[in-house]
Amino acid sequence: MLSREDNELLTRVGPGTPGGTLLRMYWHPISLSREINDESPTKFVRVLGEDLVIFKDKSGRFGLIADKCAHRNASMVYGRVEERGISCAYHGWLYDCDGNIIETPPERNDSIMKNVKTTAYPVHDYIGMIWAYMGPQPAPPMMHYDTLFRADGKRKWLMHPNLNANWFQAMENSMDPAHLQVLHQEFIGKGKTPVSTTRGFTDDVESFDFYITSYGGLMKHRRYINGMEDAHPVLFPNILRQGASSQFRVPIDDTHTMHHRVFFYPTEDGSEPEDAFDPEITFEKPIKEDPSKSHPETKFILHSVNSQDQMAWETQGPIADRTHEHLSYSDRGVVLLRRHTKEMIERVQRGEDPIGYQRDPNHAIIDTNVDDGVWQISQDRSGLAAGNATVDAEAAKG
Ligand code: FES
Ligand SMILES: [Fe+2]
Repeated sequence: MLSREDNELLTRVGPGTPGGTLLRMYWHPISLSREINDESPTKFVRVLGEDLVIFKDKSGRFGLIADKCAHRNASMVYGRVEERGISCAYHGWLYDCDGNIIETPPERNDSIMKNVKTTAYPVHDYIGMIWAYMGPQPAPPMMHYDTLFRADGKRKWLMHPNLNANWFQAMENSMDPAHLQVLHQEFIGKGKTPVSTTRGFTDDVESFDFYITSYGGLMKHRRYINGMEDAHPVLFPNILRQGASSQFRVPIDDTHTMHHRVFFYPTEDGSEPEDAFDPEITFEKPIKEDPSKSHPETKFILHSVNSQDQMAWETQGPIADRTHEHLSYSDRGVVLLRRHTKEMIERVQRGEDPIGYQRDPNHAIIDTNVDDGVWQISQDRSGLAAGNATVDAEAAKG
């Protein structure tokens, strides 16, 4: 159970909030690049509670600026793009990709051009996505995770429906290994029938534990009674790495979240395909009877692991009320995530870098074990920053 204050701390994402400030330290994939093109050069996006417009100017540069024009608030979605940037449709104020005002029709106003800027954030067009960084300057490099940066394989994006819930619910689920054997029992049994639908395949698991890796991954590890082990990290703060996939949960605002994942399939011979960085894009089919509505006005269609997960996340509420919950021992990964996130918020408040953050643009590719879906525990545990010992049953109750 959390206090109301801690629940707010972990879930609010808007400008100036502690959680939003932490999230702004990272690059986030905010739109498919192909959705902003010569025919349709602007797109409205809400990210971390801010209303923004992505545009592509006629010199081919992408920009991300405030939706509201600095003059008198008309939307920049209707702006006209030209070589130098984007011009507001209403009176023509022209902005470059850095948010500078470089023309002010109908008259030239030097003072405004010199002293006023619109909100603008750096973006990258990379592997089919526009990535945005909304934090303090200078922007760090993107984290060189293997799934995003290795050249010896093919990639594919799978776009899931937006989630009508707070991002942290999805991340807590990623630190909650016990749900797999129950919630997803229809998809994991490989033809076996569970002992009961209440237990699902719970009895296949001998134990769970949790730890933090040297590169900042929050690992959940399962040991099965047949001797098999698996482990998947959360790449802090908002990526679940599992098998070939990296799932991104990008907050739109406090109660809505984008959800998309990229798969990386290494080539067997180490060759580097020409289209390694030009992924195929697919969309998940609807997961609700009426995709425009939320629980309880519509019903989820539980046709996949993801739709089951999104059902669980959304039905917890727009922001789960953690002042009313009863944690158990198997929730200790959730407790670890909450503690760790709070610690990272405090680190950023002290002016320090959080985990999963790099300043060196040439840092080495980070191995998240993409070649082997089943984690080699011994490889990773050597660099532990924190251990399972930090999370105990007593903590789980708190
Ligand atoms: S409102 Fe944009 S130029 Fe006037
Ligand atoms: Fe799940």
